[in-house]
Amino acid sequence: MKSRGSSGIAVVGSGYVGTVVAACMAAIGHEVVGVEINQEKLTKLQSGSSYFYEPGLDERLRAGIEAGLLTFTDDFETAMAGSEIVFLCVDTPPGANGHPDVTNVTAAAKSIGMAMHSPHIIVTKSTVPVGSGNWLTSTIESVLPDDVEPDAFSVVSNPEFLREGSAVNDFLYPERIVLGGDDPMAVRKVAAAYKPILDQTFPGGSPDSRPSLVKTDRSTAETIKYAANAFLATKISFINEIAEICEWVDADIDEVAHAMGLDSRISSKFLQAGVGWGGSCFGKDVEALAATARAHGQEPMILQAAQGVNLHQRHRLVRKLQQHLRPLRGSRVALLGLAFKPNTDDTRDAPAITIARELLERGAIVRAYDPLVKQIPELPNLQTATDAYSLVERADAVVLLTEWDELRDLDFVDVALRMRGDLVIDGRNAFDADRVRAAGLVYEGMGRGVKPRNGKTEPW
Ligand code: UDX
Repeated sequence: MKSRGSSGIAVVGSGYVGTVVAACMAAIGHEVVGVEINQEKLTKLQSGSSYFYEPGLDERLRAGIEAGLLTFTDDFETAMAGSEIVFLCVDTPPGANGHPDVTNVTAAAKSIGMAMHSPHIIVTKSTVPVGSGNWLTSTIESVLPDDVEPDAFSVVSNPEFLREGSAVNDFLYPERIVLGGDDPMAVRKVAAAYKPILDQTFPGGSPDSRPSLVKTDRSTAETIKYAANAFLATKISFINEIAEICEWVDADIDEVAHAMGLDSRISSKFLQAGVGWGGSCFGKDVEALAATARAHGQEPMILQAAQGVNLHQRHRLVRKLQQHLRPLRGSRVALLGLAFKPNTDDTRDAPAITIARELLERGAIVRAYDPLVKQIPELPNLQTATDAYSLVERADAVVLLTEWDELRDLDFVDVALRMRGDLVIDGRNAFDADRVRAAGLVYEGMGRGVKPRNGKTEPW
């Protein structure tokens, strides 16, 4: 066995997380090789463009490739020979009983182990169940080549906190970097790889706002990731429950949230009421943390409530439509936005999917428009329009589900002229309610000073 390998970085898995890690590690000066086994995705990445939408990512990919710092391969031997630190960024889709499915992580770990001929540090960025560091170590150990000693590698947990739509900035300008591992030397080396970010010394760095470095053990690092996401998801569910109460007492959730957020103990972030959270992380992570609690005989009461309240928002929105459009069957409903949030083409666990499905099941005629999403795989029959104005043509109701900038600023007078009905449901509390009403339309948000016509919900 060689005593030392290259000092480069390998990134295994080139999805939403891995591609950002690879491009940004190259941007701060490292030699990086990204691994992708899907040929179609690999070809795209090699040509310097990602196969999903993420602002600023393609520029970074191209710059890294042109600088000779970034390459992509499907060959683990090449990647392992060119690296000392391996970031494991393989996806962990939802699996059975709430636990994430670690099939892809297991396969990647085996490929890494089989191609390991020199000491390596394996850094887990994939969100794996708490305690996975030990399981991962055993998996890699079980396939190591004969000339490699079992202690030739260490596993360090380095959870990611990247938001889709701002992942490049989140990586380069984080608030904290968490490293969990039992081997201090390995943790030190990973911290050294992050040094340009920790010190904000890379070109374009922000030396006045340097991130905190949290060094801890592996299980704690893994738990930090779950706890952070579960807290944010719970915070959103909390404000959505308050929004519903606001509707009963005729209070305005925007003002409530604003005033709450002025208290720095609460903070204004993640207090935006609406149709609730979606995406690939919150639902899966809350479920996984709840499953971990249950596996130990603990009842995860707050986590369960956060999930329940979130699902309730989707039903609540359908219910609002039902109350106004009587009957819902045969009514034309125009959905504005399909992605789970703006600036992404991702529809995983998007509220729009549940809402569109429920409306279709109830016989409504549903069409949708999203600036980036042109089809929902789960709903092949959902028709989409080419722009917002042609979407609202002869609609009985218009529903905002993703607060894209281009949708916030619609010309509501034009919208009103095109519609058959006059109902606007703002599922993200993103429209200027006065502008909507000034166009002669009926406005209803989520906990936002609801004043139904004639004080009652009436058929029209
Ligand atoms: C999240 C975490 O923020 C990130 O740290 C983690 O590592 C991955 O999961 P992401 O899923 O990309 O990131 O999106 P995020 O911006 O957190 O939004 C998640 C969902 O919550 C979206 O559907 C968004 O619309 C919703 N949301 C967010 C609200 O409903 N209200 C808010 O105040 C904030």
